[in-house]
Amino acid sequence: MCFTYHNEELFAEGVSLHKLAEEVGTPFYCYSSGKLAGNFQAYQNALGNFNHTVCYSVKANPNLGVLKTLAQLGSGADVVSAGEMYVALKAGIPADKIVFSGVGKTKEELEEAIKTQILQINAESIAEVETINRLAIDLGLKANVALRVNPDVDALTHVKISTGKQGDKFGVDWDDALPLYRAAARMPGIRLAGIAVHIGSQLLDLQPFRLAFTKIAQMVRELEKEGIVLQNIDLGGGLGINYNVELPPTCEAYAEVVRETLGDLNKHIIVEPGRSITGNMGILVTQVLYTKQMGEKNFIIVDAGMNDLVRPAMYEAWHTILPVERRGIAPIIADVVGPICESSDVFAKDRIIEPVQQGELLAIMCAGAYGAAMSSIYNFRPLVPEVMVHGEEFCVVRRRTSYEEMLSGQHVPQWI
Ligand code: LLP
Repeated sequence: MCFTYHNEELFAEGVSLHKLAEEVGTPFYCYSSGKLAGNFQAYQNALGNFNHTVCYSVKANPNLGVLKTLAQLGSGADVVSAGEMYVALKAGIPADKIVFSGVGKTKEELEEAIKTQILQINAESIAEVETINRLAIDLGLKANVALRVNPDVDALTHVKISTGKQGDKFGVDWDDALPLYRAAARMPGIRLAGIAVHIGSQLLDLQPFRLAFTKIAQMVRELEKEGIVLQNIDLGGGLGINYNVELPPTCEAYAEVVRETLGDLNKHIIVEPGRSITGNMGILVTQVLYTKQMGEKNFIIVDAGMNDLVRPAMYEAWHTILPVERRGIAPIIADVVGPICESSDVFAKDRIIEPVQQGELLAIMCAGAYGAAMSSIYNFRPLVPEVMVHGEEFCVVRRRTSYEEMLSGQHVPQWI
């Protein structure tokens, strides 16, 4: 197991979190390389019978240590910016395992992707397809293109992370997809490589996947009737994880849905999981600065803030919070809050939690995906260290940003 208690003290694999806190200071992210590899392998095993590529969604956690671990295991990458493409290539992920998604790719980003000859660019509009065609012709190349279609399926997830319903900004409208495929098939700069779909994130039910994949299968058959034969079916990401009491579907159950809906098409299946690869391999360790009582309410004030982990503030997300040292005393009800000057800087409201004292450490669980990746220097706070553990070894895979680094790139206007 990756995060477990030994003698009432929480460890990351074989490494004491107390020791890490002494080493790098708090707050810090801590990643279990064993859990990371296990999560990736679960997809590889479940999809083993398909010709497939797991393209880890870099946006969930773009740390080079994370990406290199996955690259070594044979992962591809789903990227949404030239920056992510750069870091994926830097980590050793081959271009022919990279897919590029996103509604608003710039010309420069598209050019880069075409020149790099990545596995496919998932285009999301007529205008984007036309732009890719022009750019590819100018470069004297053909771009591998898939259309990301919007299947108009309700992902039954948080509204801010639902992406496959008509009215969402994502993808090509279902009814426009066939005509656009026909048009793109005649464009000299385009090699039609596939079809892509991503309906949302933190899905706990397989039914929306089933509906979307069934529609994709129909579309692929329809296209083949017209002589448009695609190689790749990219199913996006979205499989949920257990933050609290959720029961997410297993990779096997997910793969079974893929088999039932798309198995007989014999295509190259691409998946783009993010959260389910990195979510539970990471925690945010924070120190209690103060505790206080106001009226009936208990507050635990910690040194991590919404700039370090924005998910609770942004999506009302639940993250389990554990004491690094477990005492087994009767719990209290408290709000766990950060130091940022915003009332939304709250990690947990009215949480049943073991009482803690100034200086003690807490672990905010399941913070490996969309944690460090979404952090900022708001309140001019440094980006926190990220530490990866491997058995009894550890490595600071990103150190804390210094104030000089935070100021670098800033210029005082010459008129001052
Ligand atoms: N593919 C595409 C095209 C995506 O837009 C996303 C996520 C993924 C794959 C990966 O999805 P996953 O397997 O991680 O669910 N910041 C939010 C989540 C935003 C997800 C955005 N797109 C959060 O913290 O919950």
